[in-house]
Amino acid sequence: MTFTHTLADPRIVAALSRMFERAEQDETTVARVLPGGFAAMSPQEHADAAAEIYMPISAAGGELLYNLVRAVRPTTVVEFGTSFGISTLYLAAAVRDNGAGRVITTELSKDKIAAARRTFAKTGLDDLITVLEGDARETLRSLDGPADFVLLDGWKDLCLPVLRLLQPRLRPGTLVVADDIDLSGLRPYLDYVRDPANGYQSVSFPVEDGMEISCRL
Ligand SMILES: C[S@@+](CC[C@H](N)C(=O)[O-])C[C@H]1O[C@@H](n2cnc3c(N)ncnc32)[C@H](O)[C@@H]1O
Repeated sequence: MTFTHTLADPRIVAALSRMFERAEQDETTVARVLPGGFAAMSPQEHADAAAEIYMPISAAGGELLYNLVRAVRPTTVVEFGTSFGISTLYLAAAVRDNGAGRVITTELSKDKIAAARRTFAKTGLDDLITVLEGDARETLRSLDGPADFVLLDGWKDLCLPVLRLLQPRLRPGTLVVADDIDLSGLRPYLDYVRDPANGYQSVSFPVEDGMEISCRL
């Protein structure tokens, strides 16, 4: 089968369209499964309660990630927060078209991991993707070698701890992207990467809920 690039592969078009369609039910699902909010929950309890909720990046955000990964040509892409794998598909499609590299993604919810793995196999991208099961603050400790491109999209209050964990593995010029800059939970992270004293040049990109793109100095 011929197509212009991997994002145009009909298997990926179908998987993204199915998942984005289901994600449209997120608000209704949140009202059903998290009626009291999640403030008092641990990250694992929150992940288990949110096992049916997609919370994906936007399609435009995914296309931005695809283009960035094509341009950067990273050997290792690290993702914090797989969910059902929407963002992972954009990242892995770019890695496929680069002809080299891998995606390491992290997820707490066993149900989501099982569903994401099925999608990765169905779309033919599973050979490029490793899912680390469990808390990224633990699983990413075993990362072998540098992280050449990072997407932070797990629980927002954990983005800064995960960045700090990865920091020794970030070379100058590495891009770190965080989704949902409008969410208050991301504030400490944004304050950190926007302070040049911490070693980043950071810019907000106006795509849907906003992505923060930070370049390691
Ligand atoms: C906003 S969703 C990710 C959406 C996904 N990037 C996409 O575009 O489809 C956040 C996900 O991060 C996972 N998560 C949150 N904290 C985590 C942690 N400490 N370790 C691993 N996964 C975590 C949650 O279970 C949830 O599925």
